[in-house]
Amino acid sequence: MSTTVISKRAASVVAHSYDEFAVPSGALDLRGDNSPLLDTVTTALTQPVVANDLASYGDVQGDLRLRQVLGSIFNLPPEGIVITNGGSEALHLALLCTTEPGDQALLPTPGFPGFDQLAALAALDVAHYRVPGPPPATSNTGVTVVCSPHNPTGACLLPTQLHRDEQPVIWDISHMSPYTPQLRQLTAGLTDHDLVVFSTSKLLRVPGARIGMLASANTDLAAAAVAIKTHLSMSASRLSQQLVTAVLTAPDTRQQVRVRHAILDDHRRRIVTAVAASHRLIVDPCDGGTHLYLHARCGQDAYTVTRDARIVGLPGHVFGADPSAVRLCIAQPDKVIQAAAAILATL
Ligand SMILES: Cc1ncc(COP(=O)(O)O)c(C=O)c1O
Repeated sequence: MSTTVISKRAASVVAHSYDEFAVPSGALDLRGDNSPLLDTVTTALTQPVVANDLASYGDVQGDLRLRQVLGSIFNLPPEGIVITNGGSEALHLALLCTTEPGDQALLPTPGFPGFDQLAALAALDVAHYRVPGPPPATSNTGVTVVCSPHNPTGACLLPTQLHRDEQPVIWDISHMSPYTPQLRQLTAGLTDHDLVVFSTSKLLRVPGARIGMLASANTDLAAAAVAIKTHLSMSASRLSQQLVTAVLTAPDTRQQVRVRHAILDDHRRRIVTAVAASHRLIVDPCDGGTHLYLHARCGQDAYTVTRDARIVGLPGHVFGADPSAVRLCIAQPDKVIQAAAAILATL
């Protein structure tokens, strides 16, 4: 088949899937989240759906009730909230709303792959800053992306730790637990130049629902995103919005997310302790989220060292960085963390 109709920018998009990093039988799969669903998700699935919702697109900005619920969690007005198809669409809209082609996008490295790929598709001039560490002050026109807790390292950053100027900042807090003081601190420090990207894929653990959020105290920014979204995807699935609304308003969800958060803290502590006991591995500083990022000492390859020990993560090149690093996801059943920690300590 001829490839001549494919644009250079389309041809240059890099997309990985977990299938590229096979898990041999009997090995531990720490590539992504394998933790159980929240009970309130299972319960919400048994509730009747409002079938009439399917007979209309609904509000492009998102169902008002869901925006009100998210607005009360994020301390933002519902007019500043746009319900999106996952965090990915929120990120795409955020980049398009705040830049012109050729502007600089200052992105974390290593980083969630969507940052680089979507910025390049939006014809932005991509520059990087190292994580752990804050982005440097920049005099260039453009946008800075901060990911906190950061995928893949788990490092966290707050607005008060950032050099502020008039440039827009996209805060991707997809991996932050709602209902934490950290989230309140972050939203309290937001300015009119800030946008927040959030996803229900992570701590709420419903990636298949494809519900995310773009939010800003600047309602003009939200309105600009809604105009673009009308032509990108129209509204987000109304069934999924019903599901997420039911989960977020269920009385037990807050407590269940807190428990999940505490379990992740415990898993992080156990894996970090095991890595500290190992001779060959070191871990980047981390204090949140669902991932850890490991390197090997003395020029060795952490991805290969762990895979040979039957722990499969994702290599650093997926995150645009050193291929010899490895990202391990700590959102696993307890017995997987126990087994992984026992192996890591011996390496
Ligand atoms: C930092 C970050 N932002 C955004 C996304 C995209 O979220 P979603 O899966 O809801 O599209 C992800 C997904 O892994 C992510 O890790």
